Amino acid sequence: MAQIIDGKAISMQIKDELKEKTAALREQGTEITLAVIQVGDDPASGVYVRNKKRGCEYTGIRSLSFELPEQTTRQELTDLVERLNRQADVNGILVQLPLPSHIDEDAVIRAISPQKDVDGFHPWSVGALSIGQPGFVSCTPAGVIQLLKRSGIDIAGKECVVLGRSNIVGKPMAMLLLRENATVTIAHSKTRNLKEVTSRADILITAVGKPKMITREYVKQGAVVIDVGINRDENGRLCGDVDFQDVEPVCSAITPVPGGVGPMTIAMLLSNCIESVRFQQPL
Ligand code: GUN
Repeated sequence: MAQIIDGKAISMQIKDELKEKTAALREQGTEITLAVIQVGDDPASGVYVRNKKRGCEYTGIRSLSFELPEQTTRQELTDLVERLNRQADVNGILVQLPLPSHIDEDAVIRAISPQKDVDGFHPWSVGALSIGQPGFVSCTPAGVIQLLKRSGIDIAGKECVVLGRSNIVGKPMAMLLLRENATVTIAHSKTRNLKEVTSRADILITAVGKPKMITREYVKQGAVVIDVGINRDENGRLCGDVDFQDVEPVCSAITPVPGGVGPMTIAMLLSNCIESVRFQQPL
């Protein structure tokens, strides 16, 4: 029987630790504030944003909400971001993605001050991660590292295969694993002999967005399998990239979907909000 990695329980543990940290900071007179910007009314984004605000409330972080109409221009949005950059009582700025198609996402991300980039999407944050300097780290991959560490799974020296090369998950995931001294391979849709490559992994991390694509033929006996995918199966039920029923018997540890990586993303966002205080202190 594989160890089922309980992301809900681990994220709760982290949120409770963060709650203590915010209380201690408040005693020293420091309040933490996250500005959350949503443009348009995409229902999935609405759910994510609500959950982020709830997480803030639980841990004692103040959240400021900006709900802008679909037809907001890039200029209006970057003006708001720049105003929040200048506001000393705002520690973190989060612009929920995706943005409506007429707004250039990269330009908006670049407008966020790197000192307030709690999503870790700004090119400065990405660059800092790749050269091992302090900076914000993208929340989902940071959450995966926490899941592994808090489940007692060693990363150093392991063969890790990351399936997927997105800027938000795959690439920063590979960098973080490298920072933990793993041997890292990034595989993707053009990788030849994919099953052969993924079967080398001691730790396999999937972020492809294809429901139940990963069956046991992709997995080495005894591997740790971390499923970042959040998809809907043919019956409309939430499922990951991994066919859990098929893979669970052959691996040593596995994350379920839902209840695995998902809850960790918000916990790490809240952690970044608290970390932001350190980056914002004058040197
Ligand atoms: N949309 C989906 N995931 C994320 C995320 O982690 N941050 C932001 N800002 N938007 C998202």
